[in-house]
Amino acid sequence: MTWYTLLMTEKPSFLHTDIFLDSGDPAETRHALAELGFLDGQTTNPSLVAKNPMILDLKSKGALSESDIWDKYKIVASQIHEIIPHGAISVEVYADLETDYDTMLDKAHELASWFPGIYVKLPITHNGLKAANALVAEGVNVNMTLCFSQEQAAAVHAATAGAKYGQVFVSPFIGRLDDIGIHGLDLIKNIVFMYQAWDSHVKVLGASIRNLDHFFGCINANCNIITSPKTVLDQWVAHGLNNDPINYTAEISEKQPIPYRELPLQDWVLYDIDHDLTKKGIEKFASDWKGLFS
Ligand code: G3P
Repeated sequence: MTWYTLLMTEKPSFLHTDIFLDSGDPAETRHALAELGFLDGQTTNPSLVAKNPMILDLKSKGALSESDIWDKYKIVASQIHEIIPHGAISVEVYADLETDYDTMLDKAHELASWFPGIYVKLPITHNGLKAANALVAEGVNVNMTLCFSQEQAAAVHAATAGAKYGQVFVSPFIGRLDDIGIHGLDLIKNIVFMYQAWDSHVKVLGASIRNLDHFFGCINANCNIITSPKTVLDQWVAHGLNNDPINYTAEISEKQPIPYRELPLQDWVLYDIDHDLTKKGIEKFASDWKGLFS
């Protein structure tokens, strides 16, 4: 047991959603654990790792190779694991739009070996889903990221059929849908509703959380997990760690609603998984990652 685990207290009783921190910095893990008294997990991604202070400091002192960066990423993930040993920690494979299945699978195997229980993040692309299909059969945990449509979530469910409940997360990005004038929280509600109807093994992890509207919206939609940046966790602490609807006034949204779709349960390759924001997200992660060593 570390001194950090001594900081842990009971979660608020109303809370049926797990709370993760979205950050590539273990100092923020310590901060979140201290201010909340609990922390159920943490998600990282290439853009967040590219902001890690230790990695930025090393970069400022000289050139780093890609292999150096992976070594540092492993150190960062292991530090987070030490702070929250029972937390679900996600680390992301490198993927650009050309990354093939074998490369993704090899990297996923390497990341899965960092420590027990780790979640390997893969993009919701054909190769990402194919890799997830193989990985869950081996017992690896996966977090399918850059989800922007109900069809993509359906494909995640179908591609990982047979996995244990909670072995698979799907990460719908709320804020990035809001950015283009679409009501991101509707996607969470639709996926939760569809998965409940399918008695799905996949947990819904609300991501790209920008404010307390998103945070409480996920809780009220019965989302399994929220991954929140430090800034929003700080706002929740200032709000009294509650979910009191009297204190909480959701903004009246001018955004375009996303209607629920009755989707068939079918072979995962039959779903239309294309989404511009998934492509843009992959490009951004790849460019932030490459920026560390090029
Ligand atoms: O969890 C995904 C998150 O890191 C992306 O957030 O604010 O860049 O859309 P954002």
